[in-house]
Amino acid sequence: MEIIVAESAGFCFGVKRALDLVTRAADDGSRPVHTLGALIHNPQEIARLEERGVHQASALDEVSSGAIVLSAHGVDPEVEEAAGARGLEVIDATCPFVKRAHENILALSREGYSIVILGDRGHREVEGLAARAGGKAEIVSSAEEAERLPFRQRCGLVVQTTQRPEALREVAGVLAERCRELRVFNTICEATVKRQESARELAEKVDAMIVVGGRNSANTQRLAEICAATGTPTHHVETAGELRADWVRGVQRVGVTAGASTPAWIVDEVVQRLRELEGGTPGP
Ligand code: F3S
Repeated sequence: MEIIVAESAGFCFGVKRALDLVTRAADDGSRPVHTLGALIHNPQEIARLEERGVHQASALDEVSSGAIVLSAHGVDPEVEEAAGARGLEVIDATCPFVKRAHENILALSREGYSIVILGDRGHREVEGLAARAGGKAEIVSSAEEAERLPFRQRCGLVVQTTQRPEALREVAGVLAERCRELRVFNTICEATVKRQESARELAEKVDAMIVVGGRNSANTQRLAEICAATGTPTHHVETAGELRADWVRGVQRVGVTAGASTPAWIVDEVVQRLRELEGGTPGP
C-alpha cells in the first residue's frame, strides 16, 4: 500500500508562531504562564504544553498573576483590556492574518458599512471578528443564510480565515444582489487555500483519505468535507490509535492530510500505524 502525505499538511505559520511564543514564555520560567482557552484546537498538543507548565484557564478570573497568552484565533478586545487591567502580562499570539481581518472590520465599521461575516457561529475567531463590529455584524455560514438577510445600502463582507473559497464566492454572489454597494475582503489565509487544494488533489488520486486533527478544529473538519466531496472514503481521526484496519483493507493508495493545528509527530504516528495495519500488526 502506498501512503502519500499531502504536500501542505499540518502546522501553519500562525500556529507555529503561537506555539513558539508560548514555549519561549514557559521556558523562561520567571512567571506562571496560562493560555486563555485552548491555544490551538489540538488536545494532544495542548497536553504537551501542560507538561511544560503551560496551564489552560477557561476564564480570566482563574489567573491572578504571570502571563496570559491569547490564542492564534484572536479574542474580543474587551478580554485583552480586562487582562491588562488585572495586571497580567498579555502575550498576544493572534495570527497576523486574523489581525488583518480585524482591521478590515474596523475600517468597514468606521465607514458605516453593515458587516457580514462568513464563518462558523460560536467559533472563537468569528466571535473575535464580530466583537470588532461592536456586536452588530451578521454571521452567515452559507449562501442560503445570506439569502435571508435584509436588503442593505452598503455592505462589507469579511471571511473567517479557514473558510472555503467556493463558500466566499457563493455568499458574495448572493450579497451582490442584496445591497447597493458591496465591499468584499477576502480574508481566507493563503495557508488554508494551499492546504485545501492539496487535500482535494490528493483525495482525487487515492482510494482512501485519512484527515488528522482535533475534532474541535474547524479547518480540519473542512478538510474532511473537501476530501469526502471528491467521493473518496474519508476518515477524520485525532490520533493513530483511532485508525481501523478495515479502512485500508484492499486499498492500493491511501492519502493523509492534517489540519493547521496538527503537529508533525501525530502525522508521523498515523503514517507509522498505517504501515503496521498493512503488515497486519494488531493495535495496542
Ligand atoms: Fe493564521 Fe491561517 Fe494558520 S489564519 S493561524 S496561518 S490557518
